[in-house]
Amino acid sequence: MDRIRIHGGNRLAGTIPVSGAKNAALPLMAASLLTQDTLQLSNLPHLADISTMAKLLSQHGVALEMNGEASGGHMGRVFSLSAETITNTVASYDLVRTMRASILVLGPLLAREGKAQVSLPGGCAIGTRPVDLHLQGLEQLGAEIELEEGYIKARVKGGLKGAHIVLPMVSVGATENLLMAACLAEGETVISNAAREPEVSDLANCLVAMGAKIDGIGSDTLSVTGVTSLKGAAHEVVADRIETGTYAMAAAITGGDVILAGGRLDLIESTVETLTRAGVEITPTEEGIRVRCKGEKVEGVDTMTEPFPGFPTDLQAQIMALLSCAKGASMVTETIFENRFMHVPELCRMGANIHVHGASAIIRGVEGLTGAQVMATDLRASVSLVLAGLAAQGETVVNRVYHLDRGYERLEEKLAACGAEITRIRE
Ligand code: EPZ
Repeated sequence: MDRIRIHGGNRLAGTIPVSGAKNAALPLMAASLLTQDTLQLSNLPHLADISTMAKLLSQHGVALEMNGEASGGHMGRVFSLSAETITNTVASYDLVRTMRASILVLGPLLAREGKAQVSLPGGCAIGTRPVDLHLQGLEQLGAEIELEEGYIKARVKGGLKGAHIVLPMVSVGATENLLMAACLAEGETVISNAAREPEVSDLANCLVAMGAKIDGIGSDTLSVTGVTSLKGAAHEVVADRIETGTYAMAAAITGGDVILAGGRLDLIESTVETLTRAGVEITPTEEGIRVRCKGEKVEGVDTMTEPFPGFPTDLQAQIMALLSCAKGASMVTETIFENRFMHVPELCRMGANIHVHGASAIIRGVEGLTGAQVMATDLRASVSLVLAGLAAQGETVVNRVYHLDRGYERLEEKLAACGAEITRIRE
């Protein structure tokens, strides 16, 4: 298994290209199941999760063609996905267990084929993560759902019918699944308390380009008037706001000065607000965003994760690494997932002073971190250890790099280009 070795202490300076968002690309790829025509997606990041989704879709009969390679810049890859005929409506355990986002094929398969069987994804390192909201919403659209032998078995007689769905809590995945299903349902569907994440809006915009009728994009109420069929379209995946925020924090933790090319300030406003309070200077540039540290160290700040437009849970681990080296104390509260502090013991092994009390962590800034052998059990926790390693004295080796490969394209290349001493040890 590959590892990442970092020799900490270098100040980052230079330009980092921001890739297309993994969490937008995955539902967009699933949306290809909704039409017989070709959906062309550009700016797709080169990541393990994208390959997993491609494999899953090909098992359903989607013909997938890659029309362009990432060109060193931030233009990403181009995929053409054609689901002319759906040959199989079963998403098996083998793939679903490796990627929870596989659940996103449920809504489209059901809407187009009237049936779908998707393995229950089960819990994962960051929490139990049920899919009850996806299922309840689909039932409201007329689906009959049974859970048998670890599978969600869904079918609908006579097609899905529009309904008013009020989500009891904000769920990105449930909003996406229901939105896709509603596009081919008969009549009007309203999704209240919908997730407003930019990845949801990116999906909605692509669906509109495919001929869907959706109002309220970007708001918490999505109204969909069903159509009988969707057509092909060409769509560019939105910039990855989590990658943007991660590298902004990498710049900050090293006292650096970095341009995030292709990064969009409007997608990371709450992150900018938090980093600004910590003393980081973030400004728009022609290329994207410039992140510069005013002092040697950031100031301690309090923050709390929330659904968009609040501070994202997917940046919670990274800000904790940054605040570990801040002047003074900080409090970080996690409100989305019940078990997303696995990075804490590893950061503490590197010298951080963090105490967790329920959903909050108190972080007392330390003089400096020290390198260590570390590992984490999920993507964002892993990258927080990379950030800590960039600032730490001595050598840090991050194990289980496959987590990083799920969500960060060419991580070591991008950081090394800005002066980090970081290499991948291939094994
Ligand atoms: C998406 O997951 C992202 N994944 C996650 O990114 C992200 O952390 C999360 O949204 C929150 O922003 C993708 O987009 C592929 P949710 P999702 O449904 O859709 C509970 C990363 O690191 N819930 O918004 O699965 C759930 O347990 C990943 O890139 C239910 O109770 O998240 C959680 O506490 C990790 N029942 C909360 O809602 C349901 O049916 C929010 O989850 C669905 C969710």
